[in-house]
Amino acid sequence: MLDTLALDVQPTSASRLAQLDPANMDFGKLFADHMLAVEFTGGEWQPSRIVPYGPLAVSPANSALHYGQAIFEGMKAYRQTNGQVAMFRPLDNWQRFNASAERMAMPTVPQDVFMHGLRELVKLDDAWVPQAIGTALYLRPFMFATDGFLGVRPSETYHFGVITCPVGVYYTKPLRVRFEQKYVRAAPGGAGYAKNAGNYGAAMLPSRIAQQEGYNQLIWTDASAHQFVEESGTMNIIFIIDNKIVTPAISTSILDGITRRSVLQLARDWGLTVEERQVSSLEVLDALAAGRLQEAFGVGTAATIAPIATIGFEGQDHDLPAVADNAFSRRASAALDAIRTGQAPDPHNWMVAVS
Ligand code: COI
Repeated sequence: MLDTLALDVQPTSASRLAQLDPANMDFGKLFADHMLAVEFTGGEWQPSRIVPYGPLAVSPANSALHYGQAIFEGMKAYRQTNGQVAMFRPLDNWQRFNASAERMAMPTVPQDVFMHGLRELVKLDDAWVPQAIGTALYLRPFMFATDGFLGVRPSETYHFGVITCPVGVYYTKPLRVRFEQKYVRAAPGGAGYAKNAGNYGAAMLPSRIAQQEGYNQLIWTDASAHQFVEESGTMNIIFIIDNKIVTPAISTSILDGITRRSVLQLARDWGLTVEERQVSSLEVLDALAAGRLQEAFGVGTAATIAPIATIGFEGQDHDLPAVADNAFSRRASAALDAIRTGQAPDPHNWMVAVS
């Protein structure tokens, strides 16, 4: 039986920490010194290793490259005001990682392998966790098939890894987005709720087209009629209409975002009305025209809360009101920052200490 707490650590002899400039942390460019690496072979997980960050050798015939058996997670560790480091809702990421694994016919990762590996990795690279408010160490667990076999069937071997990178603010200005009326991110019964690599790859062309038109991102709509809102770019989306928090209900085509869950929980804690239901693009545009749409914002791990300034629809741009100082999105953002840095109580036990 696997000893899930066994961990072989090979520290680097050439730290790259001196390359870290806390004032310039572009998302996903500079990786911390170490990575977690665990192989699945012979039907079981092998002992975990922490090794210097670096390339992996893979068979050119592996089915992640050919058939997309690859999944990932996005999560963050924060520097608390007392100097300690804590991860935000890591068990939620672990559960979602395994839900993605099941959807892609991949093995699930035991809780101890995931959590102990992450904890030890973040502890070892503690110096890479930035301090400033709004910054974090982004943690990227991932798993891919490693069989060197071109037959179309689930691989029998896999690599589970975690790489990490210090990150700052993802979007620096409110976003310009537009409703997507042609392409589809995910259909009911597909894999839209999973964080499999293919969902992101297939979104790149439509996103690039929107960017060429001057938008930052798309608002994905449903696969059959392009009528109902699904997600915005790589984030969930929340609207405030008539002072109510309105967001598309989770489905097989929508990712069950952990930032989404957290923001809805805060809204409920504050006694606000939360509606998780179908939201049509016309409802959003009508509310905007009537002055009843107070806010719209994306929610995701990378960006946390990203306010939307403009929504495009059929070639026309519709501007939202400027985000007021007392806007819900600002309040929620500040509340999350305070919980993550240990400055406010954590009533839902979202933070998990690393040390
Ligand atoms: C997130 O917001 O966490 C995402 O999923 C974006 C990531 C793919 C960069």
